[in-house]
Amino acid sequence: MVAILITAGPTREYLDDVRFLSNASSGRMGCALAEAALGAGHRATLVLGPVEVAPPSGAVVISVVSALEMQAAAERAFDAHDVLIAAAAVADWRPAERLAGKPPRQAGRTTIELVPNPDVVAGLAARKGGRVVLGFALESVSAGFPAAVDRGRRKLVAKHLDAVVVNLYGASGCGAAECGICHADGRDEVLPRTDKRRAADRMVAAAVALWQERNAR
Ligand code: C5P
Repeated sequence: MVAILITAGPTREYLDDVRFLSNASSGRMGCALAEAALGAGHRATLVLGPVEVAPPSGAVVISVVSALEMQAAAERAFDAHDVLIAAAAVADWRPAERLAGKPPRQAGRTTIELVPNPDVVAGLAARKGGRVVLGFALESVSAGFPAAVDRGRRKLVAKHLDAVVVNLYGASGCGAAECGICHADGRDEVLPRTDKRRAADRMVAAAVALWQERNAR
């Protein structure tokens, strides 16, 4: 049994007590990954941003809101896990300051100062030891699959990942030429046209196989 930590969903970066910056991540991929992990007899912990989808009942769920909360929760949980799969759509920036209450709307243009959020997966992968870290690279469909793989591979190197799932944004589902797993050793695994849950089975199997190779006695 392998202990699998999954970051999933969006983060919310509050400007004040009611307004926030976020993205449209549904959290479905992360929940499918947790289901796949549990289905294969592993332990699953989800560090989950605000989502509507219900996580599988067998998973330990740590609910978070902001990128900083996601980072803190994932940092705390990492040591007790063997594999990290980073499926979260972490907001790239957060407002430099959060205002209290709900400041009234102002007429005309305004400017918000943003500061970059930490890269959660890169921070953890930098101290992974024998653990396996898998990330996602969501690339625009207009880039085409070979260019997307190229960008995914650059992320793999920059963030010290063991594998990266390359997925084309704008493509429906996870189609044959649209989704693949690139391994640090150079192998590219193209995933067949299938649903998120079956794709998740393949991703979990790939991550667990890497962990078993690394930790074989
Ligand atoms: O650089 P990009 O955002 O495309 O990288 C995507 C990968 O990095 C995903 O695995 C995502 O979960 C992770 N990530 C993260 N923290 C961030 C940004 C991305 O963990 N601040």
